Formats: sequence, structure tokens, C-alpha cells
Amino acid sequence: MAVERTLSIIKPDGVEKNIIGEVYSRFEKAGLKVVAARMLHLSQEQAEGFYAVHSERPFFNDLVKFMTSGPVMVQVLEGDNAIARNRELMGATNPAEAEPGTIRADFAQTIDANVVHGSDGADTARTEIDFFFKPEEIHSR
Ligand code: TYD
Repeated sequence: MAVERTLSIIKPDGVEKNIIGEVYSRFEKAGLKVVAARMLHLSQEQAEGFYAVHSERPFFNDLVKFMTSGPVMVQVLEGDNAIARNRELMGATNPAEAEPGTIRADFAQTIDANVVHGSDGADTARTEIDFFFKPEEIHSR
């Protein structure tokens, strides 16, 4: 198995629900290490830039509004198959379709406020990690 890095975000609803520690605990129990982390309140420009791939989708404006509605916790996770493993922990985009025991099934109510983000592939992971962190801010261990 390959050691990978992936970008994870606890979205404004997750921070508001006070479940940062709960989500981090799930990462750690799954063998994923937090190797970089920062809390920030995304600007509109940052949210639009991060989700640029969705700019033509009908939900884009609401997504940007939601992602800028409060602080987020952004982290780089490292571990074997980190990208897929984090996606498994998150569950399906729509919490109604997420497997029981996943973060979204346990804590999210709707598709537009679904608690967590995770990179969906190797290229996206690289781009998304670069979006938030300089190489010297990532502490591989
Ligand atoms: P997407 O990248 O498809 O999902 P994921 O977060 O699981 O990788 O979509 C990005 C975010 O856009 C998603 O987490 C929530 C929002 N979204 C909606 O609000 N409505 C939708 O119909 C979809 C597909 C996404």
C-alpha cells in the first residue's frame, strides 16, 4: 500500500457542532496522521477558488455561501491509501446515502451541509494541499 497525503476540511457545520476532536479521533483510529492543520475563516475568493471545478453547477453559490459561513478546520492527513481511506470515513456526499458509522451518516443531515471535505484523487489531493499549505508547514512523521 502506498503512503499518501490528502486534504481534509471540517466544514463550518462540523466546527459549529463541536466535533473537531471526534473527527480527528476517527482519522487516528483509521491509521491516518494529521501532519498539518489550521483553522481559518474562508474568504469568498478562497471558497470560490477551492471549489472552482464546481463553478458551473447549480449549487455553487450556495456552496460558497455555506463554506464562508463560519470557520473551518483544514488538515493534511497522511497514511496508507489516505485518499480512499478518508473518503471511506467520510461516507457518501449525500448523508442519506452514507454508510452507517461514517462521519456524514453520523453527523450530517443534508447534502449541502455535510460536515467534511476530502480530496477525491491523487491529482486533486496535490492541488488542494498546495492551496492551503506550504511544504514547510507539513510535518511528515
Ligand atoms: P462533490 O465534490 O460532488 O462531493 P464530495 O464533497 O463528496 O467530494 O461536491 C462538493 C460539495 O458540493 C459537496 O460536499 C456538497 C456540495 N453539493 C451540493 O450542495 N449539492 C449537490 O448536489 C452536490 C453534488 C454537491
